[in-house]
Amino acid sequence: MTDLPRIDLSRLMARIDALGRVGALPGGGVCRLALTDEEREGRDLVRGLMEQLELTVTVDPVGNLVGTWPGTEPGPPVMMGSHIDTVRTGGLYDGALGVLAGLEVIEALQRAGARPRRSLAVAAFTNEEGARFAPDMMGSLVFVGDLSVEHARATVGIDGTTVGAELDRIGYAGTDAPTPVHAFVELHIEQGPVLEQEGITIGVVDSVQGIRWTEVTVTGVSNHAGTTPMRLRHDAGYVAGSMVHFVRQLAREIGGDQVATVGSLRLAPDLVNVIPNEAVFTLDLRNTDEIALDRAEARALAHLQALAVDEGVQVEHRALARFEPVRFDAGLVDQVEAAARAEGLSTRRLPSGAGHDAQILARICPAAMIFVPSVGGISHNVNEHTEPEHLEAGANVLLRVVSALAQ
Ligand code: GLV
Ligand code: MN
Ligand code: MN
Repeated sequence: MTDLPRIDLSRLMARIDALGRVGALPGGGVCRLALTDEEREGRDLVRGLMEQLELTVTVDPVGNLVGTWPGTEPGPPVMMGSHIDTVRTGGLYDGALGVLAGLEVIEALQRAGARPRRSLAVAAFTNEEGARFAPDMMGSLVFVGDLSVEHARATVGIDGTTVGAELDRIGYAGTDAPTPVHAFVELHIEQGPVLEQEGITIGVVDSVQGIRWTEVTVTGVSNHAGTTPMRLRHDAGYVAGSMVHFVRQLAREIGGDQVATVGSLRLAPDLVNVIPNEAVFTLDLRNTDEIALDRAEARALAHLQALAVDEGVQVEHRALARFEPVRFDAGLVDQVEAAARAEGLSTRRLPSGAGHDAQILARICPAAMIFVPSVGGISHNVNEHTEPEHLEAGANVLLRVVSALAQ
């Protein structure tokens, strides 16, 4: 495979920078929450690149954007891609890398005069982050047929809007049907510290941990902070705060891969001298071991009920997202590892701590992921960074894997 084309790092980086200017935050980083005006602008940019490469562009009813380069033979494409939505304080690489590197792979092959047997496609899936609308990985869930378009469209976001209204507003409620996929390969930054700490260039992702997201609403009684004796309080804020503490201890006690986060917490009326009558907070529990994860969730909810009884408050909770741990296709994982080694790169197998569209695509086709190091293990942070040499290495591994799959 010595005549394999190489990706053009400067072109790829210029595109990462260009997309990073869409929704750029004043001090660095980006905010392109799903289906906002900024994200629409990002979609338009990606669609423009797809058209430049003369790909067949489709948009399905949940807004998944797919560009396909037809192969010499009919049949489902080998698909690359990821997402371009970000969290509110996102970086330049989470998601964007997988989409733009996919387009770079196609451009490098086109410029080299290659013509794959199978079609090659690049997808930008809607609302992977779930930061505005839960669940995360919404677009890929609809794509594989495990979430109905109606259900997705009816989802109410953190700002009271719905997915359906926002899709219509930004002009991305398409009419194309999702299509079968031969195989899916997603290049992504690691978003954790392992590769950097071990000095390894390519993470061969063999699995993704399970995720449970829950929203909890605590209803107490607001009263004067100065006059209400401690024994007479029904403090929603106290219950929320106790849960922040409890899940940290719980994760520590369970150990292994168990992680637990309260990432959103809002108190009402949110005033210095008023006991909160309402607390709304989220729980994010993850583990590679589903049984341990079930237990962690059950214990967190049991503790919540006990706290509610003690404090004399009401609690309600609803599931926002639930994803089982996933093991990627063993053959495709081997292929990623072999491709990285053929590139002369150091590799390590590892599970993904973050959720990814690839774990959803794995339900309909062989899927795998390629990780490249995150400087300082930092992600979902405006300072997210990956070194150019690692972007290049990851994209060349993607090109190698996909070229082999398409032949
Ligand atoms: C998505 O980025 C997630 O893992 O929360
Ligand atoms: Mn991502
Ligand atoms: Mn993310």
